[in-house]
Amino acid sequence: MSLPEYIDEIKAFLVSKGIPKGIPDSVDAAVILGSGLGGFVDHIDEAIDIPYQEIPHFPQTTVAGHSGSLLCGMVKGKRIIAFAGRFHHYEGHTFEKAILPVQVASAFNTNLLVVSNAAGGINPKFRVGDLMVIDDVMRQNLMLTPHSSSKWRYNHYKYVEKVRNVATQLGITTQRGTYMYVTGPNYETPAEIRSFRLMGADAVGMSTAPELFEAARLNIPSVAISLISNAAAGMTSNKLNHEEVKEAGDLVKEDFARLVSTLIARW
Ligand code: HPA
Repeated sequence: MSLPEYIDEIKAFLVSKGIPKGIPDSVDAAVILGSGLGGFVDHIDEAIDIPYQEIPHFPQTTVAGHSGSLLCGMVKGKRIIAFAGRFHHYEGHTFEKAILPVQVASAFNTNLLVVSNAAGGINPKFRVGDLMVIDDVMRQNLMLTPHSSSKWRYNHYKYVEKVRNVATQLGITTQRGTYMYVTGPNYETPAEIRSFRLMGADAVGMSTAPELFEAARLNIPSVAISLISNAAAGMTSNKLNHEEVKEAGDLVKEDFARLVSTLIARW
């Protein structure tokens, strides 16, 4: 499947920096870390960390809590790359840039893409700090990536049970549910959340859907996990803020790291 030409340049640069370790052409898994889940990088052994600003064609991230670097190293004996910080459409990045990490992962022939995010809980059974394995996606806006075609479908839904079984074996409780993708950057109104709930959404967020769609186009098996970082607008009287995302991440970051690293090890 075609990748933009600049991906070759990015790959050549990363290889020149010793990424990935060992066989220069491939990694076992790639992980995109959502807000509050950046602590996963502490679980990468022999990590090489390259700030996004050093990498050709990488845009800079601007969101608080996103450090913005590409890491490479070992997790439970598997070669991985991790993206700490992503490119949201709401920051002004084109959809083409939003899917850049997926294309870099594809250039390294990854066997698995794990996409994570922080999301607002809509399902009233969800609690802050829950991990929700995404089983389906809805969009408020219809554009997702530059590749609009009816030909490609998501593939993450195929692996939901596999992810949840690994979690259960580790003693980690997960939710499963439908992720409503909105472009943001503003949080939703209570009326919008009420309508999303009626439509069947369990959580809402501003990322992940473009990346999952691109992963399907590039034939990369993908799984997606949301950290429920707050109750969505109108679901509680609390005001939404970015601090909450970090606090929820602190609650669950060890479980998230154990789940993702075991999944990578057993893929
Ligand atoms: N809405 C949209 N995006 C989000 C939220 C939310 O409540 N929480 C974290 N990302």
